[in-house]
Amino acid sequence: MSKNYSRRDFIKSSAMSTAAASVLMTAGRVHANENNTLKVGLIGCGGRGRGALANTLEADPNTELVAVGDAFRENAEAAVEGLAEQFANRVKVTPDRIFDGIECYKQVVPLCDVVLLCETPGFRPRSLRFAVESGKHVFCEKPVAADAAGIRSVMESAEIARKNGTSLVSGLCRRYHPDTVEMVNRVKDGEIGNVVSGRLLYLTSQPWKRARREGDTEMKYQVRNWYNYAWLSGDFNVEQHVHTLDKALWVMNNVVPDAVFGLGGRMQRIQQPANGDIYDSMATCFEYNSGIAFYSYCRQQNNCWSKVEAIISGSEGTAELMAGVIRDYNGNVVYQQEKGPYDMYLIEHQKMYEAIRGGNVINNGDYMAKATMMGIAARMTCYTGARLSWADALASEESMAPTGYTWDDSPWSLPDDKGRYLISVPGEGRVYHQIIRD
Ligand SMILES: NC(=O)c1ccc[n+]([C@@H]2O[C@H](COP(=O)([O-])OP(=O)(O)OC[C@H]3O[C@@H](n4cnc5c(N)ncnc54)[C@H](O)[C@@H]3O)[C@@H](O)[C@H]2O)c1
Repeated sequence: MSKNYSRRDFIKSSAMSTAAASVLMTAGRVHANENNTLKVGLIGCGGRGRGALANTLEADPNTELVAVGDAFRENAEAAVEGLAEQFANRVKVTPDRIFDGIECYKQVVPLCDVVLLCETPGFRPRSLRFAVESGKHVFCEKPVAADAAGIRSVMESAEIARKNGTSLVSGLCRRYHPDTVEMVNRVKDGEIGNVVSGRLLYLTSQPWKRARREGDTEMKYQVRNWYNYAWLSGDFNVEQHVHTLDKALWVMNNVVPDAVFGLGGRMQRIQQPANGDIYDSMATCFEYNSGIAFYSYCRQQNNCWSKVEAIISGSEGTAELMAGVIRDYNGNVVYQQEKGPYDMYLIEHQKMYEAIRGGNVINNGDYMAKATMMGIAARMTCYTGARLSWADALASEESMAPTGYTWDDSPWSLPDDKGRYLISVPGEGRVYHQIIRD
């Protein structure tokens, strides 16, 4: 993608490719040329899900929303209502096509050609598998799993999509941002010499917590408050930091590190029920046998320095991928990017429909699985204190699965009679080690 990529260019290239396409279709693939209306379904109707849906409807005028599903019916209904005015004649969801529950994907997917997976990450391997096995095109938000078993499943699903010839587009949106693409290409083109190391930062304040509601089972409460449970979000270094970890993977041409070690804990997230079981700070080193290393720091603590950046160090200089700056080792700025007016969230959907209609399948399965696994491996080393090879981390049989997928099943993490959750303590396992303040 060039720096000059614009919406006008996109529409032009899209029109050319769709006009040329008399769309080859095989079993399991959705028929699509520029005149076909593609039926879209949304699973996970929260903030990002509603955003992704608006992106989809804006990206391709021949799409319509036919079904939605969310763990909680009110969220699904709100998504439909929220978009009905803007896209009135293309939001065609009757009440019987609004589904709820943890496994609502089973009802949504069969009704659609394109599925947007925007639910809680821990559930995504199951909905993704069902969608690709059903031959659907998928937009799949990041991260794609919460544990290694989930990653292995996602890798298999990516292969199924590849064989089906269906698109699998990742919500790792920076891969679709022309400014970031350009900076990564400059690094790959050798503008900082050979890549030697990197500093990967996601230093922010604490995000949301959601309160327990009257009548919530433990499962229902945790799904409501999902960010704060490792089995659902992967922990914050997976849920949030995956964007920055992916930039290291990207400059390394999607070659994964050989080993990982790290340290972390929670200091502001003290033991209170809404804080769940996740950490609030992690520092991890991703090591390559070649000697290349990436140093990763992520933190969600209030009143601290905040910064989100990937600084890649090469033999001749450094590149700040987000700021768009390249420096030599005398401190001189040798390149300063002019930022474009791009909407990466829209572009990823434009690209998806361009591919579907042009018969050029996109499959982002490889990097979305590897980037998520970097976060999971980092969490594993920080939780346990062990240094892990990539192969061992990926082969891990540690299961974070619940006992089942109904509101009455038990989540991976259960509170004791004082409402305390087990917290991972390096070298000690999962223990109730913190006192409850107040
Ligand atoms: N690419 C990005 O920049 C970006 C930005 C924000 C969020 N995200 C990702 O999008 C996803 C959703 O995040 P969000 O901010 O919208 O959170 P959110 O809490 O606003 O929405 C998540 C929704 O999923 C629902 N849900 C939970 N389990 C479900 C299940 N089994 N089936 C169906 N629905 C279920 C929840 O009830 C909720 O409505 C996360 O994976 C997050 O990491 C990506």
